[in-house]
Amino acid sequence: MGNGDILLQVKDLKTYIHGRDGLRVTKAVDGVSFALRRGETLGIIGESGSGKTMTALSIMRILPSAARVVGGEILFNGENLLTKSAAEMRRLRGEKMSMILQDPMVSLDPLFTVGSQLAEPLRTHLRLGGAALAHRMTELMSAVSIPSPQQRLKQYPHQMSGGMLQRIVGAIAISCDPQLLIADEPTTALDPTVQAQFLDLLETLRDSKHLSVIVVTHDFGVAARLCDRVMVMYAGRIVEMGPIREIFEHPRHPYTKALLASIPDGTEFGTGRLKSIEGQPPDLAALPPGCPFAPRCPSVVPRCQRDYPPEFRVATEHAANCWQVSAS
Ligand SMILES: Nc1ncnc2c1ncn2[C@@H]1O[C@H](COP(=O)(O)OP(=O)(O)OP(=O)(O)O)[C@@H](O)[C@H]1O
Ligand SMILES: [Mg+2]
Repeated sequence: MGNGDILLQVKDLKTYIHGRDGLRVTKAVDGVSFALRRGETLGIIGESGSGKTMTALSIMRILPSAARVVGGEILFNGENLLTKSAAEMRRLRGEKMSMILQDPMVSLDPLFTVGSQLAEPLRTHLRLGGAALAHRMTELMSAVSIPSPQQRLKQYPHQMSGGMLQRIVGAIAISCDPQLLIADEPTTALDPTVQAQFLDLLETLRDSKHLSVIVVTHDFGVAARLCDRVMVMYAGRIVEMGPIREIFEHPRHPYTKALLASIPDGTEFGTGRLKSIEGQPPDLAALPPGCPFAPRCPSVVPRCQRDYPPEFRVATEHAANCWQVSAS
């Protein structure tokens, strides 16, 4: 990977959440490192509570107030986002990086028409007005396949369906031609047909705008559809990372294997939403020493209880953190 190819590089990111008492510290993200190339789509997959959203929010620097990045670097076009001022971050979020949240209603203000909400970033960041603004808005509505844009733009969020709202959020997210788009479970709130349409849309936008995309998902079907590579997270860490085919065909970490085994039969590349796997994820405020998956792992050996496994490379661009991988 030449450095010019890399848009985003996250190095040893640690995001902790401090409890009200000041004693309980939840290690939501605990030493995450990865690089994202220009034009690449990377999936983040893992059970609920594994730190996927916290990783995304850390990159955007829109963490809830109790959460704080306590270590690491986030390099975007080579510049560390963690040293940027709030004003610089606002500008970057307007112009270069944007995020689609799981619930479109959270991103939209119920008191304003969708038109005024779409216009806002175009006015603020691109300084568009008058005919140029109107033209750009129509163009964006057509990019996200919304018919009769003039009528739609006058509506309020509650007058639209979930699928339509997610398209509006998509239009806002790409309005200023960002280089990075992060989509956090972008289709979870949608019914299956609308989900498929939204994935088509994401693919089209990505390819036409040469976007780099991070997709957070529970769903291997979504990952298979969109991603070049995926990283599998468990208890705030990456446990396996590799090209999507490699992960499907030669998963190496027992957690990845368990996740793949939990996809309902016959839906390998279909709507592979995960069923739960046996056991409970650990309390991120009281992590055991060693590998946090050890208590649930079918291949556990004594060493797993003692030492956290480092990253073992198993193929080009494919690595897993597991002592059994080192032994094989
Ligand atoms: N606002 C918050 N206050 C306190 N703890 C939080 C908050 N948000 C998340 N956490 C904790 O941080 C950890 C990681 O959460 P995160 O939301 O990143 O998980 P996730 O992988 O996105 O899960 P999901 O698939 O359910 O969205 C969890 O233990 C969660 O309980
Ligand atoms: Mg989440």
